[in-house]
Amino acid sequence: DFGKMPDGTEVQAVTLRNDRGVMVRVITYGARVQEVVTPDRNGHGADIALGFASLQGYLGRSDPYFGATVGRFANRIARGRFTLDGHTYQLPINDGPNSLHGGTMGFDRRVWTLLTVKQGPSFASVRLRYVSPDGDQGYPGALTATATYTLDDHDRLHIDYRATTTAPTIVNLSNHTYWNLSGEGSGSVTHERLMIPAAEFTPVDATLIPTGAFSPVAGTPFDFRQPKAIGRDIRDGRSQQLLFGRGYDINWVISRHAVAVPRLVARVVDPRSGRVLELASNQPGLHFYSGNFLDGSLVGPAGHTYRQGGGFALEPQVFPDTPNQPAFGSAILRP
Ligand code: BGC
Repeated sequence: DFGKMPDGTEVQAVTLRNDRGVMVRVITYGARVQEVVTPDRNGHGADIALGFASLQGYLGRSDPYFGATVGRFANRIARGRFTLDGHTYQLPINDGPNSLHGGTMGFDRRVWTLLTVKQGPSFASVRLRYVSPDGDQGYPGALTATATYTLDDHDRLHIDYRATTTAPTIVNLSNHTYWNLSGEGSGSVTHERLMIPAAEFTPVDATLIPTGAFSPVAGTPFDFRQPKAIGRDIRDGRSQQLLFGRGYDINWVISRHAVAVPRLVARVVDPRSGRVLELASNQPGLHFYSGNFLDGSLVGPAGHTYRQGGGFALEPQVFPDTPNQPAFGSAILRP
């Protein structure tokens, strides 16, 4: 029991554990990762995912998508408009002039249905479903989405998203967990070392909408091909792109198209705790956001405030604004 929505709907929490001391808690509100406990190099556990102690925190308007499943369309759509099969659709505008993370009432703010909880010999899993009606937030087609979280004995957390639709629509589902490998609320992540195996990124305008270009990372603060501390180049005032996002808030091109089998898209090493996070995905893009808009006004489960750079998000997805960018491929899902 994780509390009740204002209308009385119950929110549930499911705890997945393995016998190596890893624990992941998922809540049905937003199909969110609420807590991830892993041991450090000395075996001491800490929660490395930012979040709130109770449902109340998540319900606040200033929740920055902690742990959330974002949809129908993760990231931005310019002016909240796109055209599909000759029809133009208008989505809610909730980020400057643009639509962000599915609109004002995205998948992150919905109570998902708990479908199954499984405990196998070497894994534990939970599957959730949300049915988004035709026209929900302006998107066409009724979309049935499932999110499955599986924790295995190799300390891997698998996140599997599936969706079907009754009419042509666009979809881009991602997970928005903010990580701090030294522990949530422990301070800044700028000392953590990040590697992103991408030679290009998609530059943006002042409202963080891609210009449509592909830019080489070489010689820019966006070059993470060799591991480097997140904070090493984050204050480089010569980079207009860093100024637009107040830090890293941009999409890397892992490949031009999605691939069949997930491959490594990021690796983060925390020298302090010894924890390592490896992220694999089959998606073409990886959005890296360095928690730039955290401003000390939110308090995590251990009672510490989250300030700028107090966590980072790595969001595998199609490139931002794909529906309006001919060079970016397609985000279309047909019945
Ligand atoms: C966006 C940021 C935004 C954050 C929280 C990220 O995915 O790119 O610009 O501030 O989500 O809303």
